[in-house]
Amino acid sequence: MGPWWIGRALFFLLMVPGILAWGKEGHYAICKIAEGYLTEDALAAVKRLLPDSAEGDLAAVCSWPDEIRFHLRWSGPLHYVDTPDFKCNYKYCRDCHDTAGRKDRCVTGAIYNYTMQLTTSYHDSVLESKYNLTEALMFLSHFIGDVHQPLHVGFLGDEGGNTITVRWYHRKTNLHHVWDTMIIDSALKTFYNSDLATMILAIQRNITDDWSNDVLSWETCSSNHTVCPDPYASESISLACKFAYKNATPGSTLSDDYFLSRLPVVEKRLAQSGVRLAATLNRVFASGAKIAVG
Ligand SMILES: *[C@@H]1O[C@H](CO)[C@@H](O)[C@H](O)[C@H]1NC(C)=O
Ligand SMILES: *[C@@H]1O[C@H](CO)[C@@H](O)[C@H](O)[C@H]1NC(C)=O
Ligand SMILES: *[C@@H]1O[C@H](CO)[C@@H](O)[C@H](O)[C@H]1NC(C)=O
Ligand SMILES: *[C@@H]1O[C@H](CO)[C@@H](O)[C@H](O)[C@H]1NC(C)=O
Ligand SMILES: [Zn+2]
Repeated sequence: MGPWWIGRALFFLLMVPGILAWGKEGHYAICKIAEGYLTEDALAAVKRLLPDSAEGDLAAVCSWPDEIRFHLRWSGPLHYVDTPDFKCNYKYCRDCHDTAGRKDRCVTGAIYNYTMQLTTSYHDSVLESKYNLTEALMFLSHFIGDVHQPLHVGFLGDEGGNTITVRWYHRKTNLHHVWDTMIIDSALKTFYNSDLATMILAIQRNITDDWSNDVLSWETCSSNHTVCPDPYASESISLACKFAYKNATPGSTLSDDYFLSRLPVVEKRLAQSGVRLAATLNRVFASGAKIAVG
């Protein structure tokens, strides 16, 4: 152990934005949207499992896994999955492992893990003590958000855009951070009066309006599975190639053209993750239902 201030300095260094997930706003929006689509059973279960600090609001704790990820080091690799450079596709067997090669240690593996914990244990008081279902709920809600952020399923070689230095208007940052935070921040300032609630409302309106014909397909998992993160990861890497990496080479300056063409992608991903989180929780907590996990 070095002197305390080295630990302190490292801590702040690690807290530099850009290595976090969808920023706080993104996760808050996703969980707020999800709340609106929960069934009565799911809402009751969520309220029962939430920590007191949430005051009954799931959205209040959806960034919790980002707050503890440097303290609970084992959870770091669970926020993303890296895919082979320039392949633009994702495969669970090939890609879902950490840098040490341990299988299932990636965002999709974590989604299966925490869904399994909740489905097997919620209605079973013996098993319930085996897992911390409060943590399982907070991890699951956060990771369903993360897997929808295109660059959380980015290339291995650039760490999902983390090593691609760009300018966002005048500010020096990296491409991953642009997608976690900067696009949402600029949208808030430019279009939503710096009010997150207004942005969430606009997305919710679109879900019931422009996207209403798509919602059922967003919610559905094939073969009646409780949870299906693999297609979400495939969508993400495809969007990463089509929109995130495109025209964002190292050293480039991203401004209006990039911002205005990518914002609709970000808003749709926030909508999809909210709807899918709710659909997943509804299946997990369907009373008496026995559904396959996988
Ligand atoms: C599954 O959840 C447990 C409890 O949080 C955790 O220790 C383990 O690392 C998780 N594994 C994966 C692959 O998410
Ligand atoms: C479950 O996890 C929460 C959040 O980390 C913690 O506050 C709580 O004490 C844990 N519960 C048990 C029984 O360990
Ligand atoms: C899904 O579940 C429904 C109702 O339980 C059942 O009728 C249907 O056959 C199932 N479909 C598949 C593909 O398993
Ligand atoms: C609403 O949907 C339209 C059409 O898909 C899209 O162009 C627009 O960006 C969306 N707005 C929001 C706030 O999601
Ligand atoms: Zn995350």
